[in-house]
Amino acid sequence: MSLAEFISSLEALLVAAETSLGDVADVASLEEIRVLYTGAKNGQLKSIQKGMGVLASDERPAAGKKFNEIRDAVQAAIDSAAVRLGSSAGSISAAKKLGPQVDPTLPGLRPRLGRLHPITQTIEDLKEIMGRLGFSAIEGPEIEDTWHNFVALNIPEDHPARDPLDNFYLATAGKQVSDPNALDAKLLRSQTSTVQIRAMETQKPPLRIISLGRVYRPDEADMTHFPMFHQMEGLWIDTSVTMAQLKSVLRMFATSYLGGDVTIRFRPSFFPFTEPSVEVDYFWNEQWVEFGGAGMVDPNVLKAVGYDPEEVCGFAFGLGVERLCMRRYGIKDIRDLFRSDIRFLRQF
Ligand code: PHE
Repeated sequence: MSLAEFISSLEALLVAAETSLGDVADVASLEEIRVLYTGAKNGQLKSIQKGMGVLASDERPAAGKKFNEIRDAVQAAIDSAAVRLGSSAGSISAAKKLGPQVDPTLPGLRPRLGRLHPITQTIEDLKEIMGRLGFSAIEGPEIEDTWHNFVALNIPEDHPARDPLDNFYLATAGKQVSDPNALDAKLLRSQTSTVQIRAMETQKPPLRIISLGRVYRPDEADMTHFPMFHQMEGLWIDTSVTMAQLKSVLRMFATSYLGGDVTIRFRPSFFPFTEPSVEVDYFWNEQWVEFGGAGMVDPNVLKAVGYDPEEVCGFAFGLGVERLCMRRYGIKDIRDLFRSDIRFLRQF
């Protein structure tokens, strides 16, 4: 067989294929025609292709090119016949051209929406409520030094709150664990009161801020304790801030967050950085619930940041965020909040 004969047999095949595909009227005949021409085993294209072996080797590239052209043309004719018959039968590439076959009667796939963690939601709510009371939110670092976590807050060296067993002191370059009494010793902050100091160190009074974030204490995890939790710190410094304003702010805050008219109670307490100091409770669902600590900022704290206690005064408070969140949503075990179990978190 010569190259010319090879080419003319291909062309004859295309004409014959196109003629019968032009007439084809049903899917079953289309399939027969497809097998006849393009069948992988005994199709006519296949047998012509086998004949290529007898061609001279310098004729083969031209023969191969022609073969590919004819094969594509036959396939295109099959595809368009399939489209005309409204069927993808007999042709995978026709099915591709028609696009995926969608069954509109099947129920749809609902996209999964993410949501904010309940603690994040609570933090957003708290910021919003305190914002309306004129407090702007600021942030402070979670890795702190002894100065901001203790010393400037009037917590002396021998105070039990500074005990290495009650804090996460950090090993820093060159040192195993920081000497807890060095002013630059590093630890994970144990309270957000550190941010009071940072705010006063960098801003002049008057000041009305809140700070929300994580704090760390080496507590055994149980229903109500976790080694990491969140606090909201509040600080108002001006020339004549009073304890009565502290109570009003906390009452308005509790009323907004919990809804209804919530009663607030002060119990005498002690914090090194406030004088006088109180524990705050609110009355909700027929019981007194612990809210957090508060008081009038101690003059020693004002002095430590370079404020004049004769000129300015103020109040500070610190509340546990988890407690508020758990009350509001009826969550019983604090550990559930941090297990990252999507089945639990999806409920909020
Ligand atoms: N920092 C205190 C605590 O963690 C709470 C507090 C903040 C008390 C501000 C008084 C004033 O327990």
